[in-house]
Amino acid sequence: MNEVIQNILTRRSVRSFKEEQISDENLNILLEVAKYAPSGMGRQGWHFTVVQNKDKMEKLISIIKEQMLNSSEERFKKMGGNPDFNPFYNAPTVIITAYDKTAATIEADCAVALENIFLAAHSLHISSCWIHILAYFGNDPKVRSVLTEFGVPEDYVVSGSAVLGYNNNPLPDAAPRKEGIVNIVK
Ligand SMILES: Cc1cc2nc3c(=O)[nH]c(=O)nc-3n(C[C@H](O)[C@H](O)[C@H](O)COP(=O)(O)O)c2cc1C
Repeated sequence: MNEVIQNILTRRSVRSFKEEQISDENLNILLEVAKYAPSGMGRQGWHFTVVQNKDKMEKLISIIKEQMLNSSEERFKKMGGNPDFNPFYNAPTVIITAYDKTAATIEADCAVALENIFLAAHSLHISSCWIHILAYFGNDPKVRSVLTEFGVPEDYVVSGSAVLGYNNNPLPDAAPRKEGIVNIVK
């Protein structure tokens, strides 16, 4: 099996990180591979905001949790009220994706860019996880004002985020793959 396929098959989502930061060199590689993802009609309508400041992340998390508590959904209320809940798992690097709402294939473009980041990170022994909380709360005005301070363009829609760092524990095994999900028509 070649190294690229091996890398795809062994990537896992990680939810417990060391404090150690990734190097700027590796961060730049991850941002570069994101930009080389395919995008609908080649529009590249994405924007990436990297947050590596603990205090600024804590401010964002506390406002997200405040909004979760105000949510009508019980699952969000429960998580928002848990003092130990950190949707970003204390990862030292967070990359937030946002998209230009005039592009046609916006969320899909950000998703493939994130997958490039995850796979390249794994090849550099950096662990990662997709974090969806900003897709739910990232466009809430209070959360949004913090994201605007971070430099997320005001007219862009926040779609998701990646957490990155070095894992505390060995990578978990992959869940068994579902059967019966493929048709081949020849
Ligand atoms: C669209 C999307 C949203 C996700 N959101 C979260 C999230 O908010 N928090 C989290 O811990 N994992 C999240 N994940 C990671 C999935 O839980 C994970 O990919 C899945 O359990 C399979 O595990 P694996 O990535 O190790 O193969 C998300 C994954 C995707 C594709």
